[in-house]
Amino acid sequence: MKVLSIVTYPASVLTTPTKKVGDLTKLQELIDQMVVAMHKAKGVGLAATQIGQGIRLCILEHIPDRDEDPLDAVPLQVLANAKVISAGGGDEVLNEGCLSLPGIEVPVSRPRKIKVKGLDRDGRPIQFRAAGFHARIIQHELDHLDGILITDHAKRPERKIAEYLAIQAKERQ
Ligand code: NI
Repeated sequence: MKVLSIVTYPASVLTTPTKKVGDLTKLQELIDQMVVAMHKAKGVGLAATQIGQGIRLCILEHIPDRDEDPLDAVPLQVLANAKVISAGGGDEVLNEGCLSLPGIEVPVSRPRKIKVKGLDRDGRPIQFRAAGFHARIIQHELDHLDGILITDHAKRPERKIAEYLAIQAKERQ
């Protein structure tokens, strides 16, 4: 299977809102490739924009290491055309990283609990509640599908982007 490479900032696909997914049967191979790419990069989520596709599709999965909270476990989930339909539980600020902005972290404030509506991998309508780490990953991935990156949540986005570009320049040396 072809291993997809992950698109990094400043690729324009990362900052462009996506289009709704049509026929999911045509996207099964792409979904499998996204899962492989996410595992290879040791990510907990991957949005279609991060593999260069402007469609409203994302995947997530978290298998906690021995030193991580087992309650944060998230089984593999494929979400198409998903959106948050309600949010609550108060906001929480946590540092987030992103495979498309390697090397930096940004404190991001997000609601602890959300209700999500969308389609599963087979195109069946789904609606569910998510809390904690699960809710955070979903919100991060849905941000991607709206063209929003963690740097957009920074108090001074331009500073965070400058920091990122400096780290990348150093790594290329
Ligand atoms: Ni990300």
